[in-house]
Amino acid sequence: MNAEDRRRRFVAAPAPVVLPSLLGCDFARMADVLRTLENADVVAVHLDVMDGHFVPNLTYGPPLIAAWRPYSNLVFDAHLMIAEPRRYLDAFLEAGCDQITIHIEAVGQPQDLIHALRAAGARVGIALNPPTPLEAITPHLDAIDQVLIMSVMPGFGGQSFDPTVRPKIRALRALRPQIEIAVDGGIKPSNAAQVVQDGATHLVVGSAIFGDPQGPAAAISQIRQAARATGEIHG
Ligand code: DX5
Ligand code: ZN
Repeated sequence: MNAEDRRRRFVAAPAPVVLPSLLGCDFARMADVLRTLENADVVAVHLDVMDGHFVPNLTYGPPLIAAWRPYSNLVFDAHLMIAEPRRYLDAFLEAGCDQITIHIEAVGQPQDLIHALRAAGARVGIALNPPTPLEAITPHLDAIDQVLIMSVMPGFGGQSFDPTVRPKIRALRALRPQIEIAVDGGIKPSNAAQVVQDGATHLVVGSAIFGDPQGPAAAISQIRQAARATGEIHG
């Protein structure tokens, strides 16, 4: 499947879309992990890229993403928790990322990054941390594909969902009825319906998938079911 087809499948996927976050998974068997996710009707994976500067943790970068690319038809959404993302955009694009999500806290003025990503034909996301007000990104909403609302401070999986971000999800949904809203951090079957009701269309999930003893496929199915148990689905 080429990039155009996998992105088309991603955009066509019915909300709420579950995006497994590759942080707490078995990195020693990534080809198998990606195959298992695709067999569970996943259409995209969320790559948690950390540089030890913007966040106090270090994960992986373009070389590993490039190694995984040939083994998967899933959309690669790189969540760049890094300082100076502009320096590395080309490397992540060449590695095969379909969407690149940058933190507004790392760039301040994202116009040139958005323009560069658009010129490369990539999808564009902007992430904001729990303390960052929605106003920090409202000037850019018409230029991007997705907003990633962090419900934990970035850097680690397995943290608890921060409910103080729920009003931000609702406010963004009210401001832009059609925009993709992803929520990232502490998403579980117990809170998935709430954030969908608030307006989330994409759920980034790490430990509730890869930490579940029943295995990723069953965990994903449980989260999808829980997320849909709400009257109101957006997107
Ligand atoms: C945190 C990452 C999240 C995290 C999600 O910095 O951006 O994607 O891995 O993992 P859980 O679902 O365990 O909070
Ligand atoms: Zn993430």
